[in-house]
Amino acid sequence: MAKLPLLVALPDEAASAALARRLAPLLRAGDVVALSGLIGAGKTTFARALIRALAGDAALEVPSPTFTLVQPYPEARIPVAHFDLYRLGDGAELDELGFDDAAAGGIALVEWPERAPARFATALSVALAPDGDGRVATITGDEEWAARLAGARV
Ligand SMILES: Nc1ncnc2c1ncn2[C@@H]1O[C@H](COP(=O)(O)OP(=O)(O)OP(=O)(O)O)[C@@H](O)[C@H]1O
Ligand SMILES: [Mg+2]
Repeated sequence: MAKLPLLVALPDEAASAALARRLAPLLRAGDVVALSGLIGAGKTTFARALIRALAGDAALEVPSPTFTLVQPYPEARIPVAHFDLYRLGDGAELDELGFDDAAAGGIALVEWPERAPARFATALSVALAPDGDGRVATITGDEEWAARLAGARV
């Protein structure tokens, strides 16, 4: 079992993308990945690389869902929905966005999970924070995630 939290240094954007590519093969339908961190922490950058890896398309356009709140990628190996809850009014709005269906049938990547924390208790959590000119990722999750991460070289 991996000892969580795992701390991963991400000195530049390429390192964030490389971590996302290492995590991508671990993900399955039903998984929720919570991407936390302050404004500009690098959440969308990380999500973009993860979605591109899951879609098998390194050039796939992945806009920030800041205004749409959710952007679906049904064409990925496993369908992915990318949420940005920064502008979420309340937890009920998450239901209107179709969060439960997206998370049941595919992978949900969620920026700003702090907006509805009760919904993400079993998520894999990737928290990004500044570290010099780069970032550091703190990866944590429940025992099931610890077991899954143990089999991966994250
Ligand atoms: N590991 C990294 N090292 C250095 N810069 C990075 C790293 N990851 C992302 N960045 C840079 O940080 C900036 C903000 O990135 P990004 O838009 O992904 O943040 P965000 O957390 O999604 O922000 P928001 O809260 O506004 O959604 C971008 O200029 C990006 O290139
Ligand atoms: Mg963002």
